[in-house]
Amino acid sequence: MRRPILAANWKMQKTRAEAAEFVEGLLPLIAGSRAVDVVIAPPFTALDRVAEALRGSGVALAAQNVNPEEKGAFTGEVAPHMLADLGCTYAIVGHSERRALYGESDAFVASKAGALLARDIHPIVCVGESLEEREAGNTLDVVARQLSGSLAEVPTDRAAEIVVAYEPVWAIGTGATATPEIAQEVHGFVRGQLVERFGTGGEQVRIQYGGSVKPDNVDSLMAQPDIDGALVGGASLQPATFSRIVCFQPLGGAS
Ligand code: PGA
Repeated sequence: MRRPILAANWKMQKTRAEAAEFVEGLLPLIAGSRAVDVVIAPPFTALDRVAEALRGSGVALAAQNVNPEEKGAFTGEVAPHMLADLGCTYAIVGHSERRALYGESDAFVASKAGALLARDIHPIVCVGESLEEREAGNTLDVVARQLSGSLAEVPTDRAAEIVVAYEPVWAIGTGATATPEIAQEVHGFVRGQLVERFGTGGEQVRIQYGGSVKPDNVDSLMAQPDIDGALVGGASLQPATFSRIVCFQPLGGAS
């Protein structure tokens, strides 16, 4: 059984005070949730403050990015051990915004994932096709290429520690969520690729869906067999909406 994992990706939003206020609002709302992993990824500047607010809650802290190097002349960058020092146990890598806006390649994403594992931080590795790629019928090819490139530095015996987020670019921040069936089709494909690459470890990898996840679609998404969680942007900014996502009720499934 894979434990569901619901993650908030705040992107470039919230000051330290706003972040702390969010955590204070969220924790009582999710106190009765079932056994799930909850992860919050604030901007770097609020990591320390959020770590303090989350202490003892069981909610995990994530960074939104990392540099694979340990130290040196990399102005503006943050190393894996610095994230570990702040209490991060997860970090998002390969988000489509970083791939598109900052030109990050699969090889760079792979080195980040490998460097995170070396510091015992779980990488959340994002993949997903653009609208153009979907319309050209290339979705599965694109996802296969991103997966094999971005997971190249994950040792087979560490596979179960990674999280993969399938985030179709056309669904991110657009309100156009993939239907549960469309998402499951790709998630099932991703599962097959992971098993091919890692053997039984691939069965244990949690695959999140991301792209306009909201309180009103999370239940049907989470009912799909290969959707193990969600990576949530816009709907993760308010305690009321994110807590409803954390407390999802898979339609037709056991809770
Ligand atoms: P969204 O963002 O929920 O606002 O679509 C998801 C993401 O980019 O991780």
